[in-house]
This record gives sequence, structure tokens and C-alpha cells, in this order.
Amino acid sequence: MTKKFYLTTPIYYVNDKPHIGHAYTTILADVLSRFHRNLGDEVLFLTGLDEHGQKVLQAAQARNMTPQDHCDDLAPRFTQLWEKLEISNDDFIRTTQERHKKVVQAVLQMVYDKGDIYQSEYEGWYSVAEERFITETEKDSGEFRDVKLLKERNWFFKMSKYQQALIDHINAHPEYIQPEHRKNEILGFLRQPLTDLCISRPKSRMGWGIEIPFDNEYVTYVWFDALINYITAPGYLSDDKKFNYWWPASLHLIGKDILTTHSVYWSTMLFSLGLPLPKTIFAHGWWLIGDSKMSKSVGNVVNPLDLVDEFGVDPVRYFLMREMVPGQDASFTMDAFIKRYNSDLANDFGNLLNRVSGLIPKYFNAIVPAPGSFTAEDKVVINIAESLKDKVPALVENLKVSEAIEETMQLVRAVNKYMEQQAPWKLAKENLPVAGRVLYVASEALRITAVHLSAVMPAKTKIVLDVLGAQGSTVNWGELKPGTKLGIHDALFPRITLPPCGEG
Ligand code: MSP
Repeated sequence: MTKKFYLTTPIYYVNDKPHIGHAYTTILADVLSRFHRNLGDEVLFLTGLDEHGQKVLQAAQARNMTPQDHCDDLAPRFTQLWEKLEISNDDFIRTTQERHKKVVQAVLQMVYDKGDIYQSEYEGWYSVAEERFITETEKDSGEFRDVKLLKERNWFFKMSKYQQALIDHINAHPEYIQPEHRKNEILGFLRQPLTDLCISRPKSRMGWGIEIPFDNEYVTYVWFDALINYITAPGYLSDDKKFNYWWPASLHLIGKDILTTHSVYWSTMLFSLGLPLPKTIFAHGWWLIGDSKMSKSVGNVVNPLDLVDEFGVDPVRYFLMREMVPGQDASFTMDAFIKRYNSDLANDFGNLLNRVSGLIPKYFNAIVPAPGSFTAEDKVVINIAESLKDKVPALVENLKVSEAIEETMQLVRAVNKYMEQQAPWKLAKENLPVAGRVLYVASEALRITAVHLSAVMPAKTKIVLDVLGAQGSTVNWGELKPGTKLGIHDALFPRITLPPCGEG
């Protein structure tokens, strides 16, 4: 049965170039999308840009540009990177698009008409330097300059009204907030009474946003605006049929720092609108650079484009997916990248392809040999390959992409070991049909590996499947046709050699 899978990434602030953290979430979403498409599911994969609010305005001012010009100038840096990274999103939303502004204003009006938005005076500590209200604790930390007590009239959303409904929903749907420890964090947060959410900014202080429809002196707070992107894109209030088809979303993929805004702000907004909540919000961890947080001031921001230019797209996708256990933090270092590349891609996967595409031409005129009946040794390999059929989808369904890759690579390692034991290069001189059987087993395992890894490395696995004449084949054992003529290829993953210490 065809299933629907609607998944989203956060929409990224256009205050700077995309970094490896943005690339990670978007690649993870892409891998999941491709994976579901391969299973025959219908997929809607949405990503985009968050273009309003203080941070974007400040970035534009620092460049002496109007905020819209600044956004228009930076947006292609994201879309071009996604193209380069082979991101297969179905839609790309920018919050400055008319389609989005209309929905945000309509939502504000509906929530207001329902009585869930009210005006009130807010008094709190305000950091002029940061241009935002800060908490008592932040004020006491002494890290904020120009702090003053500010009284401001603003519009508030009655988040508190939906607190109990949210707690009940989380308890009734254990899959709603994942991983488990994040769910507990939110339930802990909800043990305190929720305060209502200030959802406006006076234009006199911060005018870059969507005007509140019932008060033209205010714009909408950026999170209230941004979260709505998830319903704008599938057609809320513009295309009922499409919207009813896709909503609720299957998965909102986010980083751990924006969990509260998604699981508390967004959920209560949806309650107020009377819309069903998404099935799952999954918060992944952060990429650290070595042991440190990535930061512009430290100067350790990793630009994914540099990596792609140097090592190619698929190795970057592979590394990010293999190295981070979703839900936990991961550490990026060039050393780890190169080690992983050389061991998994050059030595294991690339080497298996080289053996198959070297020996079959040498001994069988580049024609895939018929295997005859399989031996116990062959069956060990076949069983591992067959076991992946259930294992890999189950792991990916649970977002355990790194484990799914590892399971697949265990097949590759098992086949390489099998090849060494069987030594078809020796067998070919003594007993050609036996060598043929071994090479069939190796080629078929290679084909199945490529199909399993195709969502992670679409370009490189396509090369492997082209060589094997097996484009469009599935993960079932035995689809490789004896008699197929093998294609030729360049080195799939040339080993990265590092200059000896002191020279590079
Ligand atoms: N615009 C908001 C999201 C609105 S969604 C309705 C936003 N944008 S952001 O550009 O600042 O961050 C986007 C995502 O990047 C977040 O999920 C955040 O967790 C992620 N990352 C930022 N730095 C990161 C790492 N170092 N590692 C992994 N992800 C990181 O927040």
C-alpha cells in the first residue's frame, strides 16, 4: 500500500551562509525522502527560508541593504547548495512570499476571532544591545549590556489555554516528541504553568515582519510567522484538497535548540486552529567542531561547499549520515572525515566494486557469470544480504540512519572477507565455474549494497548500478542477471593521501 510521507526541515534564517549544521538536517531529510520514495511511498519534502525578524533585519543593516534585497541576495546561496548536495525537496518556501504572508494574516485573524489573542502591557528587562526581552536570570548573569525595564503594549497568544491538551497529547502519543529524553524534557517544562506568548513587535522598534491584520502598528513575532510555513506549503487556506491530503505532517525534523518552539508554540497554535498535530517532531543533536561549539567568533564554522568541492558530494553525505547518531551530538574533524572516507568508502565499498569490475572482465569477458547452486559459504553472504531487507527499513523508519548504514557496511565487509577466503583470482585458473559462482555472489551483494545506500549516496551508487546494468533493481537477492555485460567506471572513491606531517 502506498503511504504518504510529508516531512520538513526547519526554515533557515537568512542571516548568513549555510553551514554544516543546516546541511546536516537537510541531507537527513533528503535521505529519508529518497528512502520513502524507494519504498514506493508518496513524499512531500519541504525546506525553505525564514526571512523576517530581528536577526535578518540586523544582518541586512550590517550590509547596508534593505531586508528584502538582503534576503533575495542570500537565498540563492541556500538553493544552490541544496542543488549541489543533491537535495530532492519538492517545495521551497520563503516567508516573504505572498502565499505565506496571506496565510499568516488569515491565521492571526482566525485565532483573534476565536478569542485566543489579546492585547496586554508587557513589562520586562530589555537588552537594547540585543534588542530583545531577557529573563531575570539572564539579566543577573551580567552578560547583557544596556539593560532597562521596558513597558510595551503587545499582542499575546493564549498558549496557556492549551497546556493541558498538549500534556494529554504527548502522553497519549509517545511518538510525538522524539527522542524519548527530549519528550521528558518538554513534559518537565510543562509542569510549570505556561505563560502566554507575546506574538507581536511594535513597528517602531522592529518593523521587518508581517503586519498584524487587526493592528497596523505591529508586525508578527518571527516564530509565529515561521512555524506557519509548515501548513502554507501544503496549501492551507489555498488548496483544501492538497492540504487535506498532506496534513498532518509525518515528521518535523529540527535541531534540539528549537524544540520548545516546535513542541509547545506550534502545537498550541494548531490546537487553536483546530488542526491535527504532526505525527512526530524529531530533535537531532548538534555538530561540534572537535569538542567546541561551532561559532563565527571562534572562526571554526565548517562550510559544506568547501568539503564538497574537495571530496565530492556523496562522501560528505555519507560522513554526516554515518557519523551522527540522530538525537546525540557528534564531532566533526577533518581527521575523522578522512579516516571514515578511506576505511568505509575507499577500502571497503570502492574495493569491492574494483574487485568485481576487475575480475569479471578479466576472466569472463565482462559478462556476469551464472552461479549454479550456492554453497554454505555463499549462503552466509546471502543470508546477511537478505536480513537487510527488514533491518534497514525498520532502522530508517526509526530515524536510525547511522545504524542502517553500519548494517549495510557489515555486508560489504563480509563479502570482502568472503572474497579473500575464496580467492576467485586463484580459482579462475583451476575451476572457472566455481570462480564464476563466487564472483556472482560478490556482484549481487554489491548490487544490493548499492540499492540500500542509494538514498545516502545517490550519485555514486548510480555508477555502481550502471556498471552492473541493474538500474531500478530492488534489494531482493537474485535480481542480477547472469549474462549482463558489465560497464566500465572511473575510481569510485580514490583514496585520500595526506601529506606527511610538516609538509601540508
Ligand atoms: N529560523 C529558525 C527555524 C524556524 S523553523 C519554523 C532557526 N533557524 S536557524 O537557521 O538558526 O537554525 C536552523 C537549524 O539549524 C536548527 O534546527 C538548528 O538546530 C540547526 N543548527 C544550527 N547549528 C547547528 C549545528 N552546529 N549542528 C546541527 N544543527 C545545527 O532556528
